[in-house]
Amino acid sequence: MKAADARVLLTGATGGIGQVMAATLLQAGASVMLVGRAEGRLSALSDDLISRLKIPADRLTWQAADLLQTDSLTGLADAAAAWGANVVVHNAGVPSFGPLAAVDPGEIARVLHTNLLAPMLLTRSLLPHLHRQKRAQVICVGSTLGSIGLPGFSVYGASKFGLRGFAEALRRELADTAVRVQYLGPRTTHTSFNSPEVEVYNRATGTAHDMPATVATALLGMLESESAQRFVGFPEKLAARINGCAPSLLDSAFNKHRQVLSKALAASLSPTTEHATSRNSK
Ligand SMILES: NC(=O)c1ccc[n+]([C@@H]2O[C@H](COP(=O)([O-])OP(=O)(O)OC[C@H]3O[C@@H](n4cnc5c(N)ncnc54)[C@H](OP(=O)(O)O)[C@@H]3O)[C@@H](O)[C@H]2O)c1
Repeated sequence: MKAADARVLLTGATGGIGQVMAATLLQAGASVMLVGRAEGRLSALSDDLISRLKIPADRLTWQAADLLQTDSLTGLADAAAAWGANVVVHNAGVPSFGPLAAVDPGEIARVLHTNLLAPMLLTRSLLPHLHRQKRAQVICVGSTLGSIGLPGFSVYGASKFGLRGFAEALRRELADTAVRVQYLGPRTTHTSFNSPEVEVYNRATGTAHDMPATVATALLGMLESESAQRFVGFPEKLAARINGCAPSLLDSAFNKHRQVLSKALAASLSPTTEHATSRNSK
């Protein structure tokens, strides 16, 4: 749909990518509902966007919600429906990095809940409302790691592979309705999402990164084109395709990643750094 017709519920709006997405959508003429957990951060972001972009205040609103809390999710769906959202961008996400044996079970549950279950539940709650719109879009922000499994990212990768599967199945399920379901797969992007450990891993493996504006521009392009899926960055796009057809062909290409991770594992098993392994990723 045209950006000017879009009323976008944007989760993860307070994050490194989300803030730039919000500004890009507003500049293109969309109305935006910012979502994050902290009222103060949302209010400050809203004030900043209104004054910096000189947009009418009625094109921007915010709603505090913790996507892990059922009541909060229900309240968000109700607020978004009352506001007339016709686009949902599932952009909120949390990282996880480290060898599986070192990742705390609670972290596994939290990552899968935030990155996969919450977008599924929020979409489900909003579907009756979205079906009443002339046209509606659900855009899931995944990752290259939702198409390629890398050593150290089994938990995060599982959440994003799941999100991609959800988006693909729902896209086909709703193909004869007015609701389009889309999937955006950014590669590593320069935000605080990536911990120092992940930065070391990325440098050691020669992983390229984008700035948030690149991802925001891709999102705007998807909103307007309604394309089913889009991956950001080359050669990641190509690798995702090859991995989809013949994953074992790429196994040896990631030997270096495993070796880098092995060093991280060795460090994580030493008593002084035991806590530091499974924190952040992409
Ligand atoms: N950065 C990368 O390298 C990269 C690469 C590929 C894909 N991605 C994906 O891009 C998306 C945005 O990433 P980012 O780099 O902008 O991350 P970020 O800066 O860490 O921001 C994360 C956002 O998610 C929100 N969030 C986290 N848990 C939440 C919860 N329980 N309830 C509500 N909101 C919650 C945070 O809101 P609060 O204000 O409440 O904390 C924040 O707005 C994520 O889905 C990520 O997986 C990132």
